[in-house]
Amino acid sequence: TNTHNTSMWHYWSYFAKGIGYTLFITIISIIIGIFIGVVLAFARLSKNKLFHSLAVMYIEFVRGTPLMIQIMFVYFGIGLWVNIPALFAGVIAVSLNSAAYVAEIIRSGINAIDAGQTEASRSLGLSQHDTMRYIILPQALKNIWPALGNEFISLIKESSIVSIIGVTDLIYQLKVVQSATYKGVAPIFVAMVIYFILTFSLSKLLNHIERKMQHA
Ligand code: ARG
Repeated sequence: TNTHNTSMWHYWSYFAKGIGYTLFITIISIIIGIFIGVVLAFARLSKNKLFHSLAVMYIEFVRGTPLMIQIMFVYFGIGLWVNIPALFAGVIAVSLNSAAYVAEIIRSGINAIDAGQTEASRSLGLSQHDTMRYIILPQALKNIWPALGNEFISLIKESSIVSIIGVTDLIYQLKVVQSATYKGVAPIFVAMVIYFILTFSLSKLLNHIERKMQHA
């Protein structure tokens, strides 16, 4: 007899839990990623050769290796010393990964501002710091905000790879529901639609904020 319930609605709490973990990892990681990314961007732009080289090496290495292997490296690497929850390892790895992408977003946003802006500002007597603070950054932020929004959306999708170390995110939950229902495709489809709802609504929200900022 069929004792298990195969309706996807019956498993809503599994999907809800998965959404919770996915959003938690994404939101914490984008915040930490922005803080570290800002530091990396200015280090890479710095005239200090040591800071510059360290930032270049970090950014290129992180962007040149798969997020999947970085997550495994953090989880099992730290695990050699202390056992940490997979969720914690996942957040660390996704944050450190996103920082490299955020650094490049910020650096290219700053570099896109015409050198004439700096020259004009400096010739008017503003210091290098004030030129960055009052002339370059306000203009650069117009390009940086939308790109950071895209990184946020990317992280919703990319964070799905934390399921390989056992973080109980949306991908993990869809596998649980597959096992419980013996249904292969339906849970995949539900999770896929959920991911789309998350990215599409975030994209709409960010566009809305962007339009408001342009009118301000
Ligand atoms: N899927 C790519 C990788 O595994 C990108 C991951 C991170 N992407 C990002 N925007 N932070 O390397």
